[in-house]
Amino acid sequence: LRSADGRLQIKLSAARGQVRIAGRDAIALSYNGSLPGPTLILQPGDRLNVTLENSLGDPTNLHVHGLHVSPQGNSDNVLVSIAPGEFFNYEYRLPVNHPPGVYWYHPHHHGSVADQVFGGLYGAIIVQDPRPVPVTRERVLVISDISLTGGGSTATVSAMEKVMGREGALVLVNGQLNPALAARPGERERWRIVNACASRYLKLRLDGQHLQLLGLDSGRFQSPKDVEEVLLAPGNRADLLVTTGAGTAILQALPVDRGGMGAMLGGNNGGGQSRTVPDGTVLATLYVTGAPAATPGPVPPQPAPRDLRATTVTAHRELVFAMGMGMNSGGMDGGMGSGKMSFIINGRPFDPTRVDTTVPAGAIEEWTLRNTSPMDHPVHLHVWPMQVVEQAGQPVDSPEWQDVVNVPARSSVRVRIAFDDFPGKTVYHCHILDHEDSGMMGLIEAR
Ligand code: C2O
Ligand code: CU
Ligand code: CU
Repeated sequence: LRSADGRLQIKLSAARGQVRIAGRDAIALSYNGSLPGPTLILQPGDRLNVTLENSLGDPTNLHVHGLHVSPQGNSDNVLVSIAPGEFFNYEYRLPVNHPPGVYWYHPHHHGSVADQVFGGLYGAIIVQDPRPVPVTRERVLVISDISLTGGGSTATVSAMEKVMGREGALVLVNGQLNPALAARPGERERWRIVNACASRYLKLRLDGQHLQLLGLDSGRFQSPKDVEEVLLAPGNRADLLVTTGAGTAILQALPVDRGGMGAMLGGNNGGGQSRTVPDGTVLATLYVTGAPAATPGPVPPQPAPRDLRATTVTAHRELVFAMGMGMNSGGMDGGMGSGKMSFIINGRPFDPTRVDTTVPAGAIEEWTLRNTSPMDHPVHLHVWPMQVVEQAGQPVDSPEWQDVVNVPARSSVRVRIAFDDFPGKTVYHCHILDHEDSGMMGLIEAR
């Protein structure tokens, strides 16, 4: 795959066809016939060439979520549209100081992102550490959800589910239902976890095991942080160390209250065929048995993360995320099911011909992300990570870097962003993909 000059070449073919899901044959979307698609392992400074072949019946494209690469031309350009039957050659150049961590790829064709991701199009990207973390094993866990009909094809989604953000009846880990993971006591495993669900939040627990978070998204703590659970909004990733203790441990996702439209829309539509324990959905089971493993060496301290709190901000902006019932010719529509719900930022739905936010390259900005609606919105900005400095008006003690930041219902979050390195146009949006497709997205241009 990798040539001597650090150039990698891969072909991804997006198609609808027969795949194995949850141990049975199903008809779904996939890259290269498997779900998730292949994991791309990169190093800072790499140049990655991807030929995307569109064998779907609809246009698509490719987005490398979280990578700090150019949004222009044939790179991470979400304005590209690849027609059915066509190819597109992407080239991504990672800066030599690109942050290590877990990233992912998925389609970003406005209007069909939720259908294509929920249908099976996603895969993990790893950017390796310049100074490796000593571990006994690495696992990549891509968590996704999907709903299949009795015949094994992807189920259709109602208008109400789209308003709420669709959640699949099956919650899969690497395309499987409750896979068995095996380890010996005393191992230090590194779990790279991707929340590839279209809308589902994952509050993960693995009781009985010692969990330490290296970081979320591209962010890193200086030393791993002990945690009992990890909350991943759609699009977030966790880089987690698991020090194993003998016994059987269940990786479960606890229910998350992400708001809603009240009784009219009901609650979460999950459950279905996934096995559940009293308080959560079983994702995987870890069996730790046998002779103890040799303990790996200490985790080297990470470089101190950049802290923009000490920096002079060049501009303040506010983005208001709102939902409302659209008006039709007869006035307000009667029912939630028939009315058109609008998803807007600063009063307007996405328009690919309008630049909503222009920032000078090199600017350091503070953005207030305000949510006036009764549901949480996980806000994602491409290319440039965000440092979360304030939540609901309270300063955050140790501000972390993330590329998806959850903004709770009727609340706000303040972030700082350094518009380094790349001019060009890209987007910010809600990562509940049905909301993005419904218009909760804006164009940003750095120049
Ligand atoms: Cu995960 Cu705009 O994308
Ligand atoms: Cu993204
Ligand atoms: Cu949303």
